[in-house]
Amino acid sequence: MRFDIATLFPEMCEAVVNSSIIGRGIRAGKLEVHCHQIRDYTTDKHRRTDLRLHGGGMGMLMMCQPIYDCWRAVSQQLGQKPYVIYLSPQGKVLTQAHARELKEKKNLFLLCGHYEGVDQRVLDEIVDEEVSIGDYVLTGGELGALVLVDCIGRMVEGVLPSEECFTEESHWNGLLEYPQYTHPVEWNGRRIPDILLTGDHGRIAQWRHEMSLKNTLLKRPDLLEKADLSQKDRWLIARMKADLAAERQAADGHGETDGSES
Ligand code: ADE
Repeated sequence: MRFDIATLFPEMCEAVVNSSIIGRGIRAGKLEVHCHQIRDYTTDKHRRTDLRLHGGGMGMLMMCQPIYDCWRAVSQQLGQKPYVIYLSPQGKVLTQAHARELKEKKNLFLLCGHYEGVDQRVLDEIVDEEVSIGDYVLTGGELGALVLVDCIGRMVEGVLPSEECFTEESHWNGLLEYPQYTHPVEWNGRRIPDILLTGDHGRIAQWRHEMSLKNTLLKRPDLLEKADLSQKDRWLIARMKADLAAERQAADGHGETDGSES
């Protein structure tokens, strides 16, 4: 899979993509990431990429021409138009499911805005979709582009040692992951759950699934509304809720007794 990042800060993007797992994926030939300096496409003798807003307003806006020429050069190199994503706080907020869909594209062109944003006309001309990495505003699209490369790139075949590395983790099936433990069996007075020492893979898998449901119920109950749950899962969740309510009631009861005694 190939990513092209159009940015005013290619060094920042190169440093990140060439590190760690994505860097290894690039060196192994599983991924290609090209970072393009938009300024190299200016026709202006001062190499300007931004100008004041028409109609008044604060700040500077990135101009159409250098961005368009950068996109055209990449399209020519590829021999086809890449799928274009503009990183923006106005975009659809990224989810694992959306990243999985984007992994099916062969070429992604990630456009990073800066300053007050980008002239609307070039967005209308080349952008297929806008993506946000959360409901907050960043100084530019670079961090968003890097999040996309990381999140999509790690799912490309051969980048991680096996598919299990990402199909077994938080968000893949709409749930959070179960807690995980390594050696030693006891650390600082804390023991790992006994079930993990039994070697019974069936029971361990069932325990992990229940812990995944419980983690999601405790930390992100909103995810349960959209998750694909079986009848048994729903029953387990109802039981967990009842247990939690009973625990809370017991704790409140103790609290009242302590309070009345003091
Ligand atoms: N650029 C500025 N804010 C952003 C956000 N939240 N997501 C993606 N790109 C952005």
